[in-house]
Amino acid sequence: MTAKGNRGRFISLEGGEGAGKSTQVKALAMALRERGLEVIETREPGGSEGAELIRGLLLDGPEERWGAEAEALLFAAARSDHVEKTIRPALEAGRWILSDRFIDSSLAYQGGAGGLGIEAVREINAFGIGDDFPDRSLVLVLDEGAERARARDTSGSDRIGGRDAAYHHKVELAFRLIAAEEPERVKLIDASGEPADVTRRLLDAIQDLLP
Ligand code: TYD
Repeated sequence: MTAKGNRGRFISLEGGEGAGKSTQVKALAMALRERGLEVIETREPGGSEGAELIRGLLLDGPEERWGAEAEALLFAAARSDHVEKTIRPALEAGRWILSDRFIDSSLAYQGGAGGLGIEAVREINAFGIGDDFPDRSLVLVLDEGAERARARDTSGSDRIGGRDAAYHHKVELAFRLIAAEEPERVKLIDASGEPADVTRRLLDAIQDLLP
C-alpha cells in the first residue's frame, strides 16, 4: 500500500442551524467505528486548544464586536490551528476525521450570508488549510417549509446563531450554491425524517470512500 493509501479520510458535516447535525455526527461516527475504523469527532469553531479559545471570541459578546472581514479571518485562523494540531496528525496516522462544520460554514455564513463573497472567503481559508481539504462534505438540508419552522424554533443564543431569518436563509442558499459548484466533494443530504434514515443517507454519500 502506498503512503497515500494509509492516510485517513476527512469528512465534514455541514448545514444551517438546527438540522440535527450534532446528533448525526455522533451517529455517523458510531456507524464508521462499527466498520472497524478509528474515528476522531471534532468541531468548529474549535477542535484544538487555540481554536477553542478563538471560538469564545467569535461566539460570545455583542454582534458589533467584529466586522465582517475580521470575523472571517478569525474563523480562518481557528481553522488553521485545528488543521495543524488535530486534523493533519490524525489523517497522517490513518485515522478518520469527522468534523461538525469546516470550511463550507465559512463559505456559506461569512461568504454567502455575510456579504464577503464565497471566493474571497475560500482564498483566505486556503492559506491555512493547505492540502487538507475534506474528502467529502455532507450538508444537511431541509425543504423550505421545514426550514421556516426550524427558524422559528431555534432562537439563536450566540453572535451568529442569533442573526435574523434573512441571514440564515442566505446561509441555506449559499450551501446549495457551493454544492452545485463542487459536486464531487459537497453533497446535499435530506435531513427530514427519522434520524436513523438520515444517518443511512449520510453513509450512502460516503460509500465510495469506505475501505
Ligand atoms: P455552534 O454552537 O457550534 O452551532 P451549531 O450547533 O449550529 O453548529 O456555533 C457555531 C456557529 O458559528 C453557528 O452559528 C455557525 C457559525 N459558524 C460560522 O459562521 N462560520 C464558520 O466557519 C463556522 C465553523 C461556524
